Amino acid sequence: MNVNAENVNYARKPKIFNQPERFIEGWYWVISSRKLRVGEVKPVTILGRDLVIYRGEDRQAVIFDAYCPHMGAHLAEGKVEGNELRCFFHNWKYDAQGFCVDIPCLDEPINVRAKTWPTAEKYGLVWVWTGETPQQPLPFIPELELEEYDSAFGLRFITNCHPNVFMVNAIDAQHFNTVHKLLSEFNFEKQELNENAITFTNTTQNSRDSFLMKLIRPFYKKPVIYSLCYWYGTTGMVTVGTDFLHFHIMFALRLIAGGKTEGLTIFITKKRQGIFGRLYNRLILWLSKFVAQFFIKNDSKIFETIQFNLKSPIDLDEPIIQFINHLEGQKALKWGSWNLDRVRDGEVREIEKRENREKWRDELVND
Ligand code: FES
Ligand SMILES: [Fe+2]
Repeated sequence: MNVNAENVNYARKPKIFNQPERFIEGWYWVISSRKLRVGEVKPVTILGRDLVIYRGEDRQAVIFDAYCPHMGAHLAEGKVEGNELRCFFHNWKYDAQGFCVDIPCLDEPINVRAKTWPTAEKYGLVWVWTGETPQQPLPFIPELELEEYDSAFGLRFITNCHPNVFMVNAIDAQHFNTVHKLLSEFNFEKQELNENAITFTNTTQNSRDSFLMKLIRPFYKKPVIYSLCYWYGTTGMVTVGTDFLHFHIMFALRLIAGGKTEGLTIFITKKRQGIFGRLYNRLILWLSKFVAQFFIKNDSKIFETIQFNLKSPIDLDEPIIQFINHLEGQKALKWGSWNLDRVRDGEVREIEKRENREKWRDELVND
């Protein structure tokens, strides 16, 4: 293996990886589905942008920019009527596509639209796509892509490091021995699933005893499987287990102010039918907690103080460099504005979305 070859791109300072002002266009979790009941509207701030989320009678979650396109009142002060949202201030009403459908003091509404964002629900969470049209399905674990599943929430946490730095921990081969005392070799094989998702699979067969193997010993005879699937460099799925029992733990992270991380763990397992299937799944989801704890327990003090800078990589660090290079090729948006961040010749330029302003100008000309 030639680290220097993979290292060529990394020799330049990353423009996306571990940058506090930038993130990749993609799906990000917003709120737990059960915290948004029919008829409720709530304020949320995601990746620095203020939004409102509401659930109409049709049970669909809808996300708008937070501030009313009339005069800027926060739409979370408003109320849900059917599948629409009415602003508290002058009572203008917007449908789920953001179109203004009622202005009480006018016979006809004017042509104005609240900015909406694509929304979907999975794993008990509402997710938002941070661009115009989703380019990918919601993050999934490759082996469960077409399966029905059960899921349960684990921890919600904040860490002092960037989500990308948190993510590479799971492919940091050396630290499994130094920090987690696994006494095992790791050798990762990467595969790009699509433009936004990459998998790493451990190809080494663990032979010696370790904490993790002792934990799942009652369930296994064959070598332990360990693989990762990363989406947008911030949602990572860990799969660990044996040929017949797999634990899946999703770390759904997002970048918050100051380059820190807000995250959730979600445990996922294939749906099983019948009373025994349901009980078995409960047990698996409960046991997943211990597997997840194992992954983050000893790392927390590293996340608190690390100033990530892979200045002296060795062969075992290659998966980390592959992860960084995978991120560097994706579409970057600016934290806060969600505008496109163009990185060219080492220069970063923010491209403002002009759509609304131009429409406004056109209307003034037509009047
Ligand atoms: S600010 Fe919302 S209706 Fe006027
Ligand atoms: Fe770790």
